[in-house]
Amino acid sequence: MTEPASPHHNQLFTALPASVEVYEVGPRDGLQNEKMVVPTELKISMIERLVDAGVRRIEITSFVNPRWIPALADHADVAARLRRKPDVRYSALVPNMRGLEGAVRGGMDEVAVFLAASESHNRKNINKSTAEALDTYAQVITQARSEGMRVRGYVSCVYGCPYEGSVPVAQVEAVCLRLLELGVEELSLGDTIGVGTPRQVAYVLGHLRDAGVPLERVAVHFHDTRGTALANTTVALQMGVRVVDSALGGLGGCPYAPGASGNVATEDVVYMLDGMGVDCGVDLDALVPISLSLQTHLGRELPSKYLKAHVGHCDRAGRSVDSGAAPRE
Ligand code: HMG
Ligand code: MG
Repeated sequence: MTEPASPHHNQLFTALPASVEVYEVGPRDGLQNEKMVVPTELKISMIERLVDAGVRRIEITSFVNPRWIPALADHADVAARLRRKPDVRYSALVPNMRGLEGAVRGGMDEVAVFLAASESHNRKNINKSTAEALDTYAQVITQARSEGMRVRGYVSCVYGCPYEGSVPVAQVEAVCLRLLELGVEELSLGDTIGVGTPRQVAYVLGHLRDAGVPLERVAVHFHDTRGTALANTTVALQMGVRVVDSALGGLGGCPYAPGASGNVATEDVVYMLDGMGVDCGVDLDALVPISLSLQTHLGRELPSKYLKAHVGHCDRAGRSVDSGAAPRE
């Protein structure tokens, strides 16, 4: 429920938007690090059910080298066999022209290029320096746009790098400005190893805004490794960000970022947005059975806190966990 306005609310929450977009990364970021490869059929059903639950932007796979990311080796199959809806934007990660060709063949609406604000992570993750990655993406972005696709640019390690530690904000700024100059419509700022805190988020976003990065073209991509993702999200929304990346169940992590654990869970984000009266168009109750199917397949509990609370509540109430409307405590 959303509490009535009070002077405190006015002071703290007037900057929250009426609505935000949830950009679902579960099928890509969520599954890329799983040891157990999820069958193509289950991936497709996960994507279709997420869309049925109201998700309107979704990253379905990565057209990367399957030797680097074996869990997403079926990228072409996933793209080819997916039943699509016209009002949904389907995206995929691409690291180079070969990846873009796959994405074009796969009929993607959008591609996402990706690099880190730190040199070492780029070497480990895409086998390129930052400058080489930007050169590659200059070509990829131009070609993708000429194919009529939208382009998103991920900047990872914004709040810290697993190899270099803290990352100077000037490096983040330089990569963001260059990607915008190259023609990306949207930047997604990744806290790849989940070290950021709300104050740091305010500092980085404020710095970027002052440097000319329009925050209405910024998405936030928090990993919840240290439990700060929802607090960070709130601050980002209060500063003008309108797109939040999240993964069903809180799955995910980058195999080339040691220690990085799950993305902020879509269920947790939607629960918080609902409670704050921010519309995201996603039906929380419809997410639960999708997470539960995945949990059963993977044979372990998913990190989402909402999911755990929901399952616990149903157990106590003697209800079936996927029997429709979720209880609110
Ligand atoms: P490389 O080995 O330097 O590539 O890898 P290369 O250009 O030298 O080519 C070597 C081989 O790879 C060749 O095959 C190419 O054809 C093949 P061979 O002749 O040896 O048989 N190849 C490809 N195959 C399929 N698809 C392609 C492709 N490109 C080349 N697109 C490369 C460079 C970028 C390809 C590799 O490093 C790679 O695939 N990296 C991807 C790693 C990855 O996906 N990491 C996780 C991303 S998550 C992330 O970065 C963070 C994010 O979630 C945000 C956040 O959390 O902060 C986005
Ligand atoms: Mg990520």
